[in-house]
Amino acid sequence: MHDVLSTEVPVFTGDLFSDASLKDPFPHYRTLRDLGPVVYLEKIEMFGIGRYDDVKKALRSSDRLVSTEGIGMNPVINNREGRPPNIITTDGPEHAKMKRPLFKSIGPKPIEAYRDQLKDLISAHIETLIGAGWFEGVTSLAQFLPVSVISHLVGLPEDVRKNMLRWAASNFNLLGPNMSNLEVDIAALQEVNEFLANVPADDMKEGSWADDLFQAAKRGELSIFEARGALATYVLPSLDTTIFAKANLIYNLGANPDQWKKLKADPSLISSAVYEGVRHSATVRGFSRYAKSDYQEGDIFVPQGERVVIFYSAANRDERHYEDPDAFLVDRNPRDNLGWGYGDHLCAGMYLARLEMEVMLEALIEQVETIEVESPVYGTNQGLYGLDTLNVQLN
Ligand code: HEM
Repeated sequence: MHDVLSTEVPVFTGDLFSDASLKDPFPHYRTLRDLGPVVYLEKIEMFGIGRYDDVKKALRSSDRLVSTEGIGMNPVINNREGRPPNIITTDGPEHAKMKRPLFKSIGPKPIEAYRDQLKDLISAHIETLIGAGWFEGVTSLAQFLPVSVISHLVGLPEDVRKNMLRWAASNFNLLGPNMSNLEVDIAALQEVNEFLANVPADDMKEGSWADDLFQAAKRGELSIFEARGALATYVLPSLDTTIFAKANLIYNLGANPDQWKKLKADPSLISSAVYEGVRHSATVRGFSRYAKSDYQEGDIFVPQGERVVIFYSAANRDERHYEDPDAFLVDRNPRDNLGWGYGDHLCAGMYLARLEMEVMLEALIEQVETIEVESPVYGTNQGLYGLDTLNVQLN
């Protein structure tokens, strides 16, 4: 037990952000959950919550555990000075005001309009991969829709579009606590900030998602400053998150041929399989919150002024909530999983992410008999869990 500001909490002494832990965090998450509903992460001097019910409660408590002071685990990323307001780092009415216009482009209804187009494109692409021998699945399959289609729908100028993957990887990596060897990522963050602060509203492709935000500003629904901040939605979390999620899903289907057979035999399980993919291998590891006032919920106490990391991916493997949580089961249908967050900050792009994953599975089911995978190379991005490379064979 450890005494933090007169509060007794169990201490987690491991390192969740070493390369080995980043590649395989799940045994550490189990230790964290078993230690207690809240633990003190000694290595990074923050509190941590990893049990399903407690993560959900914490995410519901945005009045006390705020995002406005940043959601990262180091002072550089959490310092918002001079940067446009960002949806993910605002709370209350300001947050709602910035989030609302996104749903015109990527809400559940408008996103459906893209279903047939995305399905045709991914089907034609998968056709070229079938019987082609081993290929690297992250770049050749998981990246296909985000890079070739989604980045066009966002509508940023071509030279910016080319930077999106690099900027996103750096941004997520910078959310973690390790600050050594991050010069490249910090330089990338500066590029993003400069872009957001200066991008001319008239350079957006007409009718694109980015254009929708500037049009909302013209109608007075947002200030131009807020529209620039909301644009970060498309520049930073729209590509890498879904690429990682799709690569994890392809790997899980290849590594569990019984589950692939079950899914292929019953395509009505597609939606369930998408939820299970995100539950089992949650892409976003965890974000932090700042305790604006004392946070007391049941046995959990986080004193005012402390930072607490909320681990979505640990919650999704909580044996207190899911039976046999380490198993990947396409018919589990965990619609309540926390991989997209919960509460006010529930992922704004989850309808798009689900659509991309659903059409990929539909196409695979229709066109592919077997998915074979080799042992993947796991990545060490501090913000995102998933595969750097995965050799795949489709027949
Ligand atoms: C499988 C893919 C994805 C996963 C696992 C994921 C995960 C998450 C999580 C866990 C949060 C909660 C953040 C918090 O609690 O502070 C979040 C928020 C957010 N995500 Fe996603 N995301 C995905 C795809 C996307 C896409 C495709 C977009 C954009 C097109 C997007 C845009 C956002 C935005 C703007 C927020 C902030 C929402 C808010 O603060 O109200 N995400 N996402």
